Amino acid sequence: MAGRIPKPFIDELLTRSDIVDVIDARVPLRKAGKDYKACCPFHEEKTPSFTVSADKQFYHCFGCGAHGSAIGFLMDYEHMSFVEAVEELAARAGLTVPKEAGAAFEKDKDTGADLIELMREAARYYRQQLREHPQAPRAVNYLKGRGITGEIANEFNLGFAPDGWDNLLRVLGMDDSRREALVRAGLTVKKDNGGYYDRFRDRVMFPIEDHRGRIVAFGGRIIDQGEPKYLNSPETPLFHKGRELYGLFHARDAIKRENRVLVVEGYMDVVALAQFGIDFPVATLGTATTRDHLERLFRHAPEVVFCFDGDRAGREAAWRALENALPVLREGRQISYLFLPEGDDPDTLVRKEGREAFLARLRKATPLPDYLFDTLSRQVDLGRLDGRARLVELARPLLSKMPAGVLRQMMLDRLAELSRVETDKLSMIAGNPESVAHPREIRSSSSGPREPPSMVRLAIAILLQRPELARAVSNEWILADLEMPGVPLLIEVLDVIKGAANLNTASIIENFRDSDHKQNLAKLAFWQHPALDHDLEAEFTGVMIRLQAACTRQKTERLLHKKEAGDLNQAEKDELARLLSLKRDNSRLSPPRH
Ligand code: CTP
Ligand code: MN
Repeated sequence: MAGRIPKPFIDELLTRSDIVDVIDARVPLRKAGKDYKACCPFHEEKTPSFTVSADKQFYHCFGCGAHGSAIGFLMDYEHMSFVEAVEELAARAGLTVPKEAGAAFEKDKDTGADLIELMREAARYYRQQLREHPQAPRAVNYLKGRGITGEIANEFNLGFAPDGWDNLLRVLGMDDSRREALVRAGLTVKKDNGGYYDRFRDRVMFPIEDHRGRIVAFGGRIIDQGEPKYLNSPETPLFHKGRELYGLFHARDAIKRENRVLVVEGYMDVVALAQFGIDFPVATLGTATTRDHLERLFRHAPEVVFCFDGDRAGREAAWRALENALPVLREGRQISYLFLPEGDDPDTLVRKEGREAFLARLRKATPLPDYLFDTLSRQVDLGRLDGRARLVELARPLLSKMPAGVLRQMMLDRLAELSRVETDKLSMIAGNPESVAHPREIRSSSSGPREPPSMVRLAIAILLQRPELARAVSNEWILADLEMPGVPLLIEVLDVIKGAANLNTASIIENFRDSDHKQNLAKLAFWQHPALDHDLEAEFTGVMIRLQAACTRQKTERLLHKKEAGDLNQAEKDELARLLSLKRDNSRLSPPRH
């Protein structure tokens, strides 16, 4: 996917974005010399070794080795895909991601079809059937019976899949390739004998939009009674159940305004609440709330309120949500729980009690820490010493899932109070918290490559740190003959820099995103070799002279070998003579070696 967005666009994006702004909005940075520093968000540390360079537009952690451009940061920290990160930065910079790039990644790689367009057409078809199909009154009456107005049905783009095996197929599946595309989109099913049939039949259709408002799936509710009550699109190239949330795109402005988001269980709950003017709910799609869901929600608002049924299934779902939430619970993020009376869901409750009563319940939602300690305390006898010990045992694995920070410390304090064990002892017992984002393998603390500095590494490091020096190199062709580790990479780096105007460090390294060299380049970009402390320009000239000399030496040796074997032609003899005279000059002129 990375290759589909044109490289020049990525280059431009990275020169127009400011990594310091991007990171500072998420991890507050302090100025330190010409760079910025913070405690690394990717591993636990007490002294800051996470460094962000405005010149290089790149970050690097000297502790754990995490590194990247603004794009890489959004991918690692916000769990965005490459394309999402590019879109986010483009939106900030006021740039549009080039059309062919967008289209390329929407095109299905097997059928070549534009699945997004197909979903749009299907939604239009279902919507039209809700108005025009002879059976439509069945669906309309059902919706009316559930209290859904035409206006709100329109707002949520609800539709109707009529009864029958090939309604959609007849409209959209005009040839074999279109029918295959419909299968890829999850709209039709292929039979073993090769025939096709519509997946959704005689159902009210809820289009499911992704974070950009593109329809990526449908949920279909049976009209009246029947099994299964809800039928959802299967996993497709467009749709991953554990990622998407029903109603999120629709609710995004309201969520921003409210500074909070409400998570409910059903499509109907979202629609019913919206009808009552409670316009910031989203629903998971018949799955537990995942970490991905939560990261996504916290990008929109700092507070997430979960709404669960008061029955056992609801309580179990609530506890699962808690376990998934702990690792993403940092300062500034709040989670609360609203438990509904048994037998009600938000849809039935808001219709029964009305908007104000529902909002009042929402205000009384239980904060996650209270919910956690209440639940655990109910399982033990706090009046007994062994009961309090048991509480510590139960809380330990949960608190150790939380990232280090004030919130975790406060929860430890709370546990200390309840169990009457000193906080210091608890901190030890509670163990190390998981790192905030992906736990990374902690590499041996290194500020650069471990092998001795070779000239080639030095040349690459200098080019990464001062890309404009590449302009001074006019004889890179000599490098092609040089047999030395790293030379092909050096040539590649030179090519990349010379191939575009004004690349910064981050853009250069982004060109190597899919290469094995990326990691190494990232290290070299922040390499603090003593040779790099002073005059980079002079150092670079020196290195290039030495590389040229090495090249001459190698060529001379090759020709001398050939001469011994007695098969030099005239051109080679001339070349050898020239090289030998050069060598004499060089030994007189070359700068002293370090
Ligand atoms: N769900 C599903 N498949 C089912 C049942 C439920 O995917 N067979 C998902 C749907 O997203 C549904 C949610 O779980 O909206 C909640 O299910 P449930 O509480 O059973 O339904 P309600 O939303 O209350 O549906 P309704 O009010 O229409 O009966
Ligand atoms: Mn319901």
